[in-house]
Amino acid sequence: MEQRRIVWITGGGTGIGRALALRLAAHGWTVAVSGRRDAALREVVDAAPPGTVHAFPLDVTDLPANRATVAAIESELGPIDLAVLNAGQFTPFRAKDFSVEPFDTTMRVNFMGVVHGIDAILPAMRGRGRGHIALMASLSGYRGLPLGGPYSATKAALINLAESLRFDFDRMGLRVTVINPGFVKTPLTEQNRFHMPFLIGVEDAARRIERGLESGRFEIAFPLRFVLLLKLFRMLPYRLYFPVMRMFSGR
Ligand SMILES: NC(=O)c1ccc[n+]([C@@H]2O[C@H](COP(=O)([O-])OP(=O)(O)OC[C@H]3O[C@@H](n4cnc5c(N)ncnc54)[C@H](OP(=O)(O)O)[C@@H]3O)[C@@H](O)[C@H]2O)c1
Repeated sequence: MEQRRIVWITGGGTGIGRALALRLAAHGWTVAVSGRRDAALREVVDAAPPGTVHAFPLDVTDLPANRATVAAIESELGPIDLAVLNAGQFTPFRAKDFSVEPFDTTMRVNFMGVVHGIDAILPAMRGRGRGHIALMASLSGYRGLPLGGPYSATKAALINLAESLRFDFDRMGLRVTVINPGFVKTPLTEQNRFHMPFLIGVEDAARRIERGLESGRFEIAFPLRFVLLLKLFRMLPYRLYFPVMRMFSGR
């Protein structure tokens, strides 16, 4: 019988992480889910086929706790084949209420949380000469967007980091993937009071991510029409980008 592969998903208690955990568990993976809220993690464990999902509570901003979590997962479940570093938060932002605090917290969770996850898992993967790390970024990281603020800045940093890691990871025989979703209906986007173009459901997002992870592509970006539009915006010179984006967003 083929051995079940092992995946670690941070932010696995809700939203995209939860949907991906349940999907991978149903498709032969053993899944370790991490997040701060134990109750949310337990709910995912209970919703999955028995013995397929395991809860490892963690605050990703705590570096020693990331290392301890990876050690616990590997000793209890076995070597991690895939790490989906997905934990993230979104704080609405307006420059008129500028303060450092949302930048500090968003950077610590969205960016440093991922860096901590890489730090925790990379030595073991390097030692084995195999492994796959996926960084959860966002299409909002492609360019500075109206209201993007600290959130989009962390996602731009993650895209850049994944691109940079790719060079060394290739040499080490490891895989790195960047995941750039558009708007997905989750607790994170529930608070948005603006129109979210091309909004998709969480199951749909998880299906696209699973397919992308298996495909070997460097970037998993969706939905396609939104991706193409934003890739086009990314190529525009500034003198066109600002007026065009203002027209599209109404800001
Ligand atoms: N929804 C979208 O439209 C969209 C689009 C592009 C990218 N994304 C990205 O997708 C990822 C998942 O977001 P989501 O939409 O599924 O929203 P979500 O349901 O709010 O998921 C975020 C998860 O991150 C966890 N988390 C937050 N801070 C953490 C911390 N310090 N330590 C450990 N876990 C932490 C949360 O669990 P606890 O609170 O229990 O810790 C939660 O389970 C995020 O990185 C988000 O930026 C989302």
